[in-house]
Amino acid sequence: MKAIAFTRFGEPEKVLELKTLPDPTPPGPGEVVIRVTKRQLHPGNLMMVRGKFNIPLPAHGFLIPGADGAGIVEAVGEGADSAHLQPGMRVIFNPSPGAWAERLKARAEFVTPIPDDLPDAIAVQMLPNAVIAFMLLRAAQRAVPDAGRETPILLNAAGSSVARLVTIAAHRRGLKVAGTVRSAQGAKALSDRFPDMPVVSTADPDWPDHLRHATGAQPLQVLMDPVGGAMVNDFVPLLGDGAAVLLYGAMSPEPVVYPLSALPREIMFTGVSSSRWMQDTTAVQRREDVAEAIEIGRAAPEQFEVAADYDLDQFANAIEHMERENRQGSVLLSSD
Ligand SMILES: NC(=O)c1ccc[n+]([C@@H]2O[C@H](COP(=O)([O-])OP(=O)(O)OC[C@H]3O[C@@H](n4cnc5c(N)ncnc54)[C@H](OP(=O)(O)O)[C@@H]3O)[C@@H](O)[C@H]2O)c1
Repeated sequence: MKAIAFTRFGEPEKVLELKTLPDPTPPGPGEVVIRVTKRQLHPGNLMMVRGKFNIPLPAHGFLIPGADGAGIVEAVGEGADSAHLQPGMRVIFNPSPGAWAERLKARAEFVTPIPDDLPDAIAVQMLPNAVIAFMLLRAAQRAVPDAGRETPILLNAAGSSVARLVTIAAHRRGLKVAGTVRSAQGAKALSDRFPDMPVVSTADPDWPDHLRHATGAQPLQVLMDPVGGAMVNDFVPLLGDGAAVLLYGAMSPEPVVYPLSALPREIMFTGVSSSRWMQDTTAVQRREDVAEAIEIGRAAPEQFEVAADYDLDQFANAIEHMERENRQGSVLLSSD
């Protein structure tokens, strides 16, 4: 099978290679072998290749990026058919390492059949971004029980796939959200998508005033931020006592420094990571999360447009496209 792999951390164009590898061995108990047809490219995939996560490289061997995607079940191990998985079924999987290969072996509990009316190109966009979106909303409500009721939850980088899923999921729960993006063009695109949502561009020097005006002049209680760096401090004057800052990404190269200006108030900074989904989320909640993700994909397919769909061999073009500023839509990598 073909696979994209790396043996050292670094810039993706320098370290990623197309390899021909043996197919996975037959599935053991509770496992399935999946022929992967599509994957969505995520910023986290490239962070892994660049060595930003605490994942060691094997002493001899390689890593294959990607942990989620869509495909067809090819073989089912003992006991895995009790999870209603049969050869030939269309499925999505998350988390199952090695998704940038034509085949992988996954644990059946992380593999979900998808309905016939959900195309792969949409199904593949539902996990893992929906998982982190639901986790963020649960974290917001743990920190501030009436989050999104009186004042909107503020999403920074609100045009990202994750933030758009938070917006859809928040609206399904009757919660209000507002967004900041880094360009006027991005603000226009997001307002076209969600016309009732207040959206402000931080490229405008008066953005804090615009945001106060757009959100009703009340101090905000929850900020969800995947950027980090110094900019987090710019949001602090907008937050009220008891507010929560939920950090879930690090797209800025700078660290977050707890701002002294926050000190007279109690503002909680906390990290939210989808890696905790397997550890801390019950199996029942995980099934509900996956079911809601599939329901969102079926109910609002127009929210999941594709910017480009590249063949697995063209991974370098796909990565370049994924990193373009102001890209609208997801970049997919296919091997069907
Ligand atoms: N914690 C977790 O478990 C978890 C899980 C999934 C994703 N994430 C994180 O969530 C974030 C978003 O992921 P995604 O898949 O939704 O990304 P995406 O769809 O590729 O979107 C990235 C967005 O971030 C914006 N952006 C990039 N760099 C920025 C900067 N320096 N300042 C402000 N905005 C910036 C882009 O704005 P433009 O439109 O202007 O280019 C774009 O809207 C990433 O940091 C990712 O690592 C975390």
